Amino acid sequence: MAQPTGYLRIKNIMTTVLVTGGAGYIGSHACVELLNANFDVLVLDNFCNSKATSIKRVEKITGKSITLIEGDVRDKATLTMLFSDHQIDAVMHFAGLKAVSDSVNNPLAYYDNNVMGSITLLEVMSEFSVNNIVFSSSATVYGFSDDKPIPETAPLSPFNPYGHNKRMVEQVLADISIAEPSWNIASLRYFNPVGAHPSGEIGEDPNGVPNNLMPYVSQVAVGKRERLSVFGNDYPTIDGTGVRDYIHVVDLALGHVAALNKLMQGCGLLTLNLGAGRGYSVLELVQAFEASTEQKIPYEIVNRRAGDIAIYFADASLAKQVLGWKTTKTLEDICRDAWRWQTKNPNGY
Ligand code: NAD
Ligand code: WQD
Repeated sequence: MAQPTGYLRIKNIMTTVLVTGGAGYIGSHACVELLNANFDVLVLDNFCNSKATSIKRVEKITGKSITLIEGDVRDKATLTMLFSDHQIDAVMHFAGLKAVSDSVNNPLAYYDNNVMGSITLLEVMSEFSVNNIVFSSSATVYGFSDDKPIPETAPLSPFNPYGHNKRMVEQVLADISIAEPSWNIASLRYFNPVGAHPSGEIGEDPNGVPNNLMPYVSQVAVGKRERLSVFGNDYPTIDGTGVRDYIHVVDLALGHVAALNKLMQGCGLLTLNLGAGRGYSVLELVQAFEASTEQKIPYEIVNRRAGDIAIYFADASLAKQVLGWKTTKTLEDICRDAWRWQTKNPNGY
């Protein structure tokens, strides 16, 4: 029987996205925005730093379903089965380990998971001629940059295994792009992802004592921690505390959808900062949190944290120019949404 006339055209539209690490903090928010944008979503996660509940919550928020596969991105047999069983058009690759200090203590685990995992994924993608990938890189690749703001052209000088992992995978992707011009690749360098979905259903769920500022502040606000330690107030900044570019995780997720849409047009290799393009100090963030949530955040000033940088914020102009994307959420939105997630889920998922 003849196919309806629109059949081939519809089949050619990129629709199914494999999201590795989709149960995690950023991946789960990306799943929401992918489903909202009418992509079909397949998640592969080994739950080493997440729970399947996040996927249930994504389904609740969107009213759509996700195919969830429990498995490891380093496991070629699982990947081969997955790519055989599903017609995958593109991959968003979030799966990885992300704790900087942990990477210093356990470098092999980080190179294995983050570098080998990415290479295994890319090998299977290549075998199945799936040539579209969005990769979670990090502003950490710039290391101690002198640029303020930091453009994509700044020299790369990561100084810990986690940062080296990201730089290496970016290099692998750039080399693939030279060898195989048919590949469409977006390496997205995130600045400081924070906040939560406005529904309060999904958010960051750190294990144990949070390493990062925003989850720590939220846990102080909810009474799980006594006070915030502010790491140094003698930096050359507005109030002496460190300045960072905090990006709402929903803005970040929307940046991924914009990048995916660009891949669909055949963009080759893109390397883009995803940040708000402005910095806030630790104390400015604390004040914004107090003002937006009416919670007091007790804090004390302690010594600087080893490896911290005074000022780090993105030149976000290239992403705007190339993707037509920029952040729209304010620091107040970030604080309010982080607080809603924290109060609705005081013990995480
Ligand atoms: P996350 O830990 O919440 O999410 C990562 C997910 O990947 C988790 O669900 C984890 O279980 C899964 N995972 C890890 N290793 C896996 C493996 N081998 N196979 C399958 N699943 C695996 O972290 P996140 O904050 O959502 O970060 C997502 C990505 O973004 C990471 O690659 C991270 O390095 C990168 N990134 C994060 C930040 C940040 O501050 N959160 C900043 C820049 C870049
Ligand atoms: C922000 C500011 C701290 C905690 C890290 C990784 C980076 C990226 C994002 C993945 C700094 C201060 C913090 C606290 C504090 N991850 N602070 N008290 O260090 O900019 O970036 O996460 O790619 O690679 O290094 O984020 O949230 O830890 O710190 O005073 O308890 O808050 O000194 O100025 P950072 P952060």
